[in-house]
Amino acid sequence: MFLYLAPLNRFSNHVYRHLILKRKADFVFTELIRIQDLHRSEDKIKYFKEDLNKTIFQIGISNKQEIDIALKAFSHAKELNINMDCPMSSMKDTCGAMLRNEPLMDELTEYFAKQCKKVKILSSVKIRLGTDENNIQIEKYLDMFEKNSIDKVYIHARPLRYTYLRPALLDPLKSLKKYTFPIIISGDVDNYISAKKITEIIDCDIMIGRAAFMNPFLFEEIKDRENLTEGPYDPINKDRNIIKTPDSSYMTDKKKDFIREYRRLAEKENITINLTLLFKGLSSKDGYLI
Ligand SMILES: Cc1cc2nc3c(=O)[nH]c(=O)nc-3n(C[C@H](O)[C@H](O)[C@H](O)COP(=O)(O)O)c2cc1C
Repeated sequence: MFLYLAPLNRFSNHVYRHLILKRKADFVFTELIRIQDLHRSEDKIKYFKEDLNKTIFQIGISNKQEIDIALKAFSHAKELNINMDCPMSSMKDTCGAMLRNEPLMDELTEYFAKQCKKVKILSSVKIRLGTDENNIQIEKYLDMFEKNSIDKVYIHARPLRYTYLRPALLDPLKSLKKYTFPIIISGDVDNYISAKKITEIIDCDIMIGRAAFMNPFLFEEIKDRENLTEGPYDPINKDRNIIKTPDSSYMTDKKKDFIREYRRLAEKENITINLTLLFKGLSSKDGYLI
């Protein structure tokens, strides 16, 4: 099972990705880079040279011209990924739009796959199950991507209009046929048990978002089959580096060391980082005194 670090806007910067690759992630995603904003995405396009082959550059595009621009700007990429997964209204003309406009999705994925093949870059897309719970269209999307020769498909197992407060929807994955491309699933993975629950339903690799930004050791734990707590999605309770006492919760020295290393390298690289997910679940101020 390959493990991917998901794209998380404001979190999946090149420094975090670098540290997570050192901790057994197989592949990592950049934050979404909207091609119309390329000129002010300086930090988002950074990477460490040694990480290049394991880095997937995620783009937001709305027409063929932007695909051409992306292919020039990311000619060094091994894989380029189109985001079709964003529910935010600010993305309604780019990322989320394609789920609501299948002819556009068809036209752009066909063009994207063709152009990527010419320059030997893997073409991939990240998608949701459908536009809402009553409109699950994942089979139709996958058939289209197969017809268009897309190389890899990432599925966030929720429809577009669907809150994170509800569990990811795994049922629609049960009936999917085997496709020519590998499928990678994300949605509520917080340890080995929850990853396995998905791979038992469908032959796939796994992508981890929020939990991997709270617990930087999650990939190691999954690969080494440690941390086998059963139960619903709860990355804080399943984080062995958060120690709970009756009146406080604090982090282990191992996690503090990670944060110190992250801060140091981010400062050296001159990027601003957001530590909120790493501090999640800590009641004690102790966590901040590192
Ligand atoms: C704060 C936040 C930012 C995200 N940013 C992106 C993004 O830029 N591109 C993308 O494709 N998905 C984005 N996602 C979705 C994640 O990549 C992932 O598919 C989703 O969170 C489900 O995985 P998880 O349950 O492991 O978090 C974001 C999710 C969150 C919570």
